[in-house]
Amino acid sequence: MDITLLLLLFASCAAVYGKPNVLFFVSDDMRQQLGCYYGPDFPAPVHPKMHTPHLDELASKSLLLKKAYVQQSVCNPSRSSTLTSRRPDTTHVYSSEHYFRKVGGDFVTIPQFFKNNGYTSIGLGKIFHPGPVASGDDDPVSWSLPYYHAPNEQHWKNKKHGSWKAVSKKMREEKELPDIQIAQKAKSVLQQLTNASKPFFLAVGFHKPHLPFIFPEEFLDLYPAKEIRLPDNPYAPTEMPSIAWHRYDGIAAYPDMKGLNITGDINSTIPDFKTLELRRAYYSAISYTDYLIGYVVDELKRLGLDKNTIISFWGDHGWQLGEHGEWSKQTNFELATHAPMMVHIPGVTDKGIVTEHITEYVDLFPTLVEAAGFPSLPVCPRDSSNVTLCTEGESLMPLVLSNSSKDWKDVAFSQFPRSHQKIGSVMGYTMRTPSFRYTEWVKFSNEPKFEPDWNALHGVELYDHRTDPEENHSRAHDASYKSIREMLSRQLRAGWRGARGI
Ligand SMILES: *[C@@H]1O[C@H](CO)[C@@H](O)[C@H](O)[C@H]1NC(C)=O
Ligand SMILES: *[C@@H]1O[C@H](CO)[C@@H](O)[C@H](O)[C@H]1NC(C)=O
Ligand SMILES: *[C@@H]1O[C@H](CO)[C@@H](O)[C@H](O)[C@H]1NC(C)=O
Ligand SMILES: *[C@@H]1O[C@H](CO)[C@@H](O)[C@H](O)[C@H]1NC(C)=O
Ligand SMILES: *[C@@H]1O[C@H](CO)[C@@H](O)[C@H](O)[C@H]1NC(C)=O
Ligand SMILES: *[C@@H]1O[C@H](CO)[C@@H](O)[C@H](O)[C@H]1NC(C)=O
Repeated sequence: MDITLLLLLFASCAAVYGKPNVLFFVSDDMRQQLGCYYGPDFPAPVHPKMHTPHLDELASKSLLLKKAYVQQSVCNPSRSSTLTSRRPDTTHVYSSEHYFRKVGGDFVTIPQFFKNNGYTSIGLGKIFHPGPVASGDDDPVSWSLPYYHAPNEQHWKNKKHGSWKAVSKKMREEKELPDIQIAQKAKSVLQQLTNASKPFFLAVGFHKPHLPFIFPEEFLDLYPAKEIRLPDNPYAPTEMPSIAWHRYDGIAAYPDMKGLNITGDINSTIPDFKTLELRRAYYSAISYTDYLIGYVVDELKRLGLDKNTIISFWGDHGWQLGEHGEWSKQTNFELATHAPMMVHIPGVTDKGIVTEHITEYVDLFPTLVEAAGFPSLPVCPRDSSNVTLCTEGESLMPLVLSNSSKDWKDVAFSQFPRSHQKIGSVMGYTMRTPSFRYTEWVKFSNEPKFEPDWNALHGVELYDHRTDPEENHSRAHDASYKSIREMLSRQLRAGWRGARGI
């Protein structure tokens, strides 16, 4: 037998009998507005029905995390946290300016873990926040092969296209959309990897539904204009402290927003006609992203790789589409911190497992490690700046393998910084429990301490999700909630270690 054939035979055996591959999808600014989230976990009422058949199908064969929360609702902090399984107070990444290896520590990331353990790790599109200031040009040490960015990314990012655009076939022929280029690249990479000797970790990051909402025009037809509705609570929650507000005026930079008097102020919003347009375009961009995920997963199946490939999907944080009069992310509200996440493990989750347990994005890394058959990650010590591999999350495998909920943490911690002219740096620490969202805005010491001063309080919010899932009313100053507030405050300050008794 010819030696290359022997090698090939060996190679295909290794792929089949060795470790499973991992196909790792990320989408940008996608809240959990997917068919599979209908019910109490769907974002505040939206119409019409969403068209997301591919993610719904993947969800039906996955562990579907109905209540997964990001650790900070903006791109670079959320991605840095999820990809290292450490929280913002450990990565020290609170904005798009910082790179965790410079400000936090030399932490092993999810793709790097697989690369270090014999996988070919490949990254396409947006996985880390791009650019040298954010993550050192896509964190080269995480990848086995040179990173791929869609050639047309910059062209379609230009604000001149407006806040949204339904792109015609002709325009695409001149300049194809970048997410389509990424999906096509994923397809050809999968073909090349089919009979490779090593298992693969393939990360595919789509840019949509991030602004500008740009998608092939046919997706707009899924959402007839007359069926789009306005948000039913276009005002800030009653009793909300002003520090909780995000001035959403970034959206005003698009040329079609000129003359609409967008200030970003509390209790101002975008005019109704534009709100309806933007909501329709956002839904269309979600369906477009759903289509692209289907396109890549179909190729995985066609190549016969699906039986041995773990598939995960997550949106990097939620989004406000005019609810509270708020736009974009950058808040501690439910709509900004709650996002979609699912993990398909072939042969294990095929029948679909839906969980209402509260989970956190830092839980993904230890889950993928265990799902692929590696030993569990150790929990990080209090100061883990010199510890390259550890987790501040908890593997989700107990939610997959047993029906017992008794030991699950059932609480999620997120945070968002604000700077204030008079009080300086403030951090909003928020916590979601099965019944409540509780938030304290406190004075925060930056470098080198990175510590809250719980005695310097600049605002408190308490939402009762049993009766107020849209967070219309803060009960923090409601006398009938006094003992609940005290209990929640203790729990928030004890943090994730307190919640797990470690
Ligand atoms: C992979 O190997 C199998 C078995 O040798 C072969 O049938 C198949 O065509 C190969 N696939 C690709 C994409 O090369
Ligand atoms: C939130 O307020 C809006 C507007 O007043 C109302 O339509 C909606 O029903 C409220 N949500 C809940 C859950 O009470
Ligand atoms: C915003 O509007 C709501 C509803 O009208 C009101 O209760 C709240 O006090 C307003 N907030 C501010 C900061 O003006
Ligand atoms: C914006 O403000 C100007 C000046 O107050 C007003 O004339 C105009 O009608 C406003 N435009 C919209 C869309 O509200
Ligand atoms: C981390 O390493 C540096 C440099 O060796 C050392 O100065 C520092 O004390 C270490 N920190 C911890 C928490 O071990
Ligand atoms: C899980 O537990 C519930 C309640 O105890 C029970 O009704 C259900 O059948 C169990 N499911 C499985 C898959 O064991």
